[in-house]
Amino acid sequence: MIIKSLHIENFRNYTQEDLIFSNSLNFFIGRNASGKTNLIEAIGYFVLYRSFRGISDPELINWNSNFFYLRLELINSYESTYEVGVEKINQQYRKKIKKNGKKVNKLSDIISDIIGVFFVPDDLEYVESTSKRRNFFDYLFSLIDVEYLNALVEFQKCLKQRNELLKRILEKKSTTNELDFWDNKIIELSLVIMKKREQYIQIYNNFFHKRAKEISNQNDEIFVKLEQNDLGTFKKMFLENRYKDIYAGTTTIGIHRDKFFFLDKDNKDIGSFFSQGQKRTVALSLKLAQYDLLLENFKIKPILFIDDVIRELDQYRRKYFLDLLLDCGQAFFTTPNFEDDMRMFKELKGNNCKIFEIENGNVKNEF
Ligand SMILES: Nc1ncnc2c1ncn2[C@@H]1O[C@H](COP(=O)(O)OP(=O)(O)OP(=O)(O)O)[C@@H](O)[C@H]1O
Ligand SMILES: [Mg+2]
Repeated sequence: MIIKSLHIENFRNYTQEDLIFSNSLNFFIGRNASGKTNLIEAIGYFVLYRSFRGISDPELINWNSNFFYLRLELINSYESTYEVGVEKINQQYRKKIKKNGKKVNKLSDIISDIIGVFFVPDDLEYVESTSKRRNFFDYLFSLIDVEYLNALVEFQKCLKQRNELLKRILEKKSTTNELDFWDNKIIELSLVIMKKREQYIQIYNNFFHKRAKEISNQNDEIFVKLEQNDLGTFKKMFLENRYKDIYAGTTTIGIHRDKFFFLDKDNKDIGSFFSQGQKRTVALSLKLAQYDLLLENFKIKPILFIDDVIRELDQYRRKYFLDLLLDCGQAFFTTPNFEDDMRMFKELKGNNCKIFEIENGNVKNEF
């Protein structure tokens, strides 16, 4: 899986650009605010079909335009073209996605065509926020198991309906027995998700624990633990909780509240005791284990998107991370201090790496 080229129109601070990539390391170098991360965001758009920064589509359109358009050529067993456009028409934004010239109706049909892992400074948020961590695992498990994705999407719809109904019951506009329908659906879907989470977190944990230990030079023994309701008693508990839910006007227990947290080898919850360095270890390990799991599942090396990460790492972690690049497939990398990094990377990947010098939303030089 190699991204061969990208054509950009009116995306962020780029007006028009055509880029042909190396099949190994690609560097985007340039001053602050030149547009390095914007390029990662443009290429990475084809991984999630949205911005990896969690920014809404309209904000990605160049300020002087009313649309953006991206076209990417991918080499897999054969060559494919992916196109995405977002256009403002009559105060509304319309988004179109095409694969090989044909309109894509279901994102799930193409979402695993380009598998990527993003390493960004914001990864520290996964260490700090329980809900972000849950989203991280939901996204990962959805990628490797379409049944998980379908159950989760259906669950979210049902949960919304149930919560609206709970409010109506509280206002005496609906009756309690109307809950039966939604509760049965939610219980059924929850059991599917809970079983799969239990199964996948175990596999993930083997990778995570190994990575965290390696990155910390054998110092840190960290495991991810899933805290969820007991599968055998979940149904009973969920139904018993009804009146509490009606009173609260929302669903107070269930998979949308389950937690993934961090334990040491003595099973002690250590999430709130991490030092800054340990937080970095954990953030990096979360993503590296994501890489490992995707590689194992798809038997193909995920594409790496690395934005501004290594300069925050100490020497040992930096070395570890760079060694990974020796072994990776294709990677896109931003760096503002290119003199040092460039020398290092040229050594790493020989002449096969490509450097793009960025200035104010233009690729000024390629070498
Ligand atoms: N929709 C948009 N239209 C035009 N310009 C935009 C748009 N969105 C962001 N920008 C501009 O893009 C620039 C930021 O680009 P980017 O985040 O890629 O910088 P960078 O090279 O990664 O910088 P740093 O080294 O600080 O991370 C900002 O100056 C911002 O004003
Ligand atoms: Mg940046």
